[in-house]
Amino acid sequence: MWIFKVGVLGAGAMGGGIAQVVTYSGLPVVVKDIDQGQLDLARTHVEGIYQKRVDSGKMTAGQMQEKLDLIEYTLDYDGLADVDIVIEAVPEVMKIKQHVFAELDQVCMPDTIFASNTSALSITEMGQATTRPHKIIGMHFFNPAHVMKLVEIIPGEETDQDTTDTVEQFTQELRKIPVIVKECPGFLVNRLLMPYLNEAVLALEQGAATAPEIDEALGRDGFGWPMGPFFLMDMLGVDVCAHVGQYLYQHYGQRLAEVKLFNELVEKKRLGEKSGVGFYVYTATDAEPLEEIIQRLQQSGAVETGTRFSVERLILPFLNEAAMCVQEGIANVNDVDMACIAGIGMQVNKDGQLVRMGPLEYMDETGLDVIVERLEALEKEFGPRFHPVDILYQKVRAGQLGKKTGAGFMEWTA
Ligand SMILES: NC(=O)c1ccc[n+]([C@@H]2O[C@H](COP(=O)([O-])OP(=O)(O)OC[C@H]3O[C@@H](n4cnc5c(N)ncnc54)[C@H](O)[C@@H]3O)[C@@H](O)[C@H]2O)c1
Repeated sequence: MWIFKVGVLGAGAMGGGIAQVVTYSGLPVVVKDIDQGQLDLARTHVEGIYQKRVDSGKMTAGQMQEKLDLIEYTLDYDGLADVDIVIEAVPEVMKIKQHVFAELDQVCMPDTIFASNTSALSITEMGQATTRPHKIIGMHFFNPAHVMKLVEIIPGEETDQDTTDTVEQFTQELRKIPVIVKECPGFLVNRLLMPYLNEAVLALEQGAATAPEIDEALGRDGFGWPMGPFFLMDMLGVDVCAHVGQYLYQHYGQRLAEVKLFNELVEKKRLGEKSGVGFYVYTATDAEPLEEIIQRLQQSGAVETGTRFSVERLILPFLNEAAMCVQEGIANVNDVDMACIAGIGMQVNKDGQLVRMGPLEYMDETGLDVIVERLEALEKEFGPRFHPVDILYQKVRAGQLGKKTGAGFMEWTA
């Protein structure tokens, strides 16, 4: 099936960016919201992205206008009757998503594909609200959509192969990198990222280190990430991270620790850059210092104190989860690594050189026996969330220790 016209539902942080990506590839798009203010914001956002290209000489004003003319902003469903795919980017609430898909089901052609930009919710469950569960699929863009290259494609239990193939090809036409991910809570990237971010907040609330110390240790001059975990969470939205963390905690239980500080910050509307204050202060200069909030939590006895911070304490849960995703067939080895590089910019600082590398290659380079030893040491210190996953033990028992033995998660030639 070919995609000639696209619908985007929800003109918020993601919807506007996705509409820009679609028009950049030359396809017309109808953007629908229930709030005219949001449509106006999306229009300004899209124009801003194109204006930057004009200002930097990458595009003429005429070419920009041609792209802008491809977008129709609307409050009603009329323009969506002849679209080949709808990408839904309404709030992350199952009831809302099911409601809009049920409405679209009445309006769109019978073979129109319904894609959801959900960060973690079940695609299969969304499909149940429609008469076309075989046409429902996850199409998870990363923020900001016009910059980030990765799109996770998540077929639900009933999605047919033609839908998956069409969406994979469409993603490539959008000049993005598609990675097919088996449905599971958090999909691939958020499932790996969250144990890392969660452990960072836990270490912070326990007083193991300050946010700047942790960011410095994990950032470019430390482990190598483009930015540390607290800068990243402030950018993504502290509320979004807290919500995804809670959702994964419900599903994966003890592999994520429960963190109190997340709720404290969300209750105080410290949502990150968008609210002017999160872990760091941006515009809300009268905000209470973060240290005082942490001290109060500690004095109330609600959180453990006196634990130790190390880079490994944050990185190893991420690596362990990547191994588990391979074990569960969530994605293949290359796709796991590609998703981490293209989706979250994973890179490693090797003697001052920043090298793009995914978690599985990193584990192979380090040695899987070493990874297991370090996880076991952390398990003794912090508990079962650090327990090495079976596939690591299996590989070590088979003598597949990574690069040094010629095989680990991947084959290595001398
Ligand atoms: N923000 C991120 O970093 C990010 C990244 C990847 C995926 N996502 C996912 O994308 C989706 C949207 O997130 P967002 O951050 O853009 O949300 P947002 O709150 O910024 O935007 C949601 C938009 O949906 C509109 N809306 C609400 N009900 C609607 C309805 N019935 N019909 C049409 N429009 C409706 C709202 O008016 C709003 O404009 C969520 O599922 C989220 O998990 C978000």
